[in-house]
Amino acid sequence: MSTKTVAVIGLGYIGLPTAAILASNGVKVIGVDVSDRHVDAVNRGEVPFVEPDLATHVAGAVSQGMLSAQKDTPQANTYIVAVPTPFKDGYAADLSYIEAATDAIIPQLRGGELIILESTSPPGATEHMAQRVLEARPDLSLDGSSERPVVHFAHCPERVLPGRVMIELVTNDRIIGGLTTEAAERARDLYQVFCHAELHLTDATTAEMAKLTENSYRDVNIAFANELSIIADKIGIDVFELIELANKHPRVNILQPGPGVGGHCIAVDPWFIVSAVPEEARLIRTAREVNDNKPEYVLTKVKDRADRFKEPVIAALGLAFKPDIDDLRESPALEITKQLAQRHPGARVLAIEPNIDALPASLSALPNVELAETRAGIAAADIIVLLVDHREFRHVDRRLLNEKAVIDTRGLWR
Ligand SMILES: NC(=O)c1ccc[n+]([C@@H]2O[C@H](COP(=O)([O-])OP(=O)(O)OC[C@H]3O[C@@H](n4cnc5c(N)ncnc54)[C@H](O)[C@@H]3O)[C@@H](O)[C@H]2O)c1
Repeated sequence: MSTKTVAVIGLGYIGLPTAAILASNGVKVIGVDVSDRHVDAVNRGEVPFVEPDLATHVAGAVSQGMLSAQKDTPQANTYIVAVPTPFKDGYAADLSYIEAATDAIIPQLRGGELIILESTSPPGATEHMAQRVLEARPDLSLDGSSERPVVHFAHCPERVLPGRVMIELVTNDRIIGGLTTEAAERARDLYQVFCHAELHLTDATTAEMAKLTENSYRDVNIAFANELSIIADKIGIDVFELIELANKHPRVNILQPGPGVGGHCIAVDPWFIVSAVPEEARLIRTAREVNDNKPEYVLTKVKDRADRFKEPVIAALGLAFKPDIDDLRESPALEITKQLAQRHPGARVLAIEPNIDALPASLSALPNVELAETRAGIAAADIIVLLVDHREFRHVDRRLLNEKAVIDTRGLWR
């Protein structure tokens, strides 16, 4: 075993950039993934998904022999685990991917290794991983209090923004939580190789909670804006003007409402806190429910308009979960568009999403949905529902909107 070898387990949106940036900074990296597609792509020096600048890093690192990929977990000095953590029914985190990755590491351990969990995890997951290792390997220990060789565990959550990952890996502060102080210090030494921002050391559970707290903070604040939007409708005022005026207060900064909350982080991670402490996490749970119910509210508003037409043409503007990207994961805009088509079978639904070339399967399977171009789609529609504030929609000729029923969930056309 080379003392400098790092094995990165999971070569997805987080693991592959981390592997590539380490390898570009002179660390020998072996990437591990259960997917042949990911392993083969990396070994060809290619990237299995789109992320700016990643392809250059991977191609360079592979051609210099610093990065390779395989399906089997090798012996290494350090393991970085970046596998998925979705939620299960009942919203508890599904730790089965972490457990599978851990089980593959266990036979390779000789003592002295550092295992870093990067996956977004519920409180206690790093400890759970360590206990799983110790149960299978009673010959190892977590600290130097016995004669047995030590294995170090740390949690280092990731907070990069898709589309800016290669920049933010270098420039974002990081939180590093160790099960022991030595584990945290060893993890810091590794991240220092490529991260130029501050590295904050703490314990593993605080690091786990820090990541979940960041996303819950966003979720709660968006829920406040979404609730205000419903209150403002009821009272008969413009929520966007209301928020703009309230934000003139020097210590008030309300976020903007929308059609709901999507993506694989903000709409997921708060549930890990709720399922860990259900009695106490009342505000966090309510915020999730407020945001999850917002699509239904938007659908009711459209229904009120659609009922006035026999066979309405409804243009749904935006399918992605946030502006100017093509990511449709957990997107409320996608779900609203699907529901519009299903609940109004006599309607023609024009899905307008400038960032994709073909409809996703959940929409293409429906007979009354078609992908439309922005201007033509708006011109053809009776009802326009703006769901995502993509830059292409900002400059729409407002005269096209005359005589149409417009529901602008993002306040783009005020
Ligand atoms: N993508 C983001 O923007 C982002 C941001 C912050 C945190 N995270 C967190 O990082 C973690 C990884 O997310 P991601 O977006 O990279 O996921 P991903 O689905 O893109 O990648 C995960 C990879 O792990 C592989 N994998 C699954 N089980 C495996 C196993 N047992 N052994 C080896 N490989 C295995 C999969 O084949 C896949 O390639 C998650 O916990 C996520 O919540 C993601």
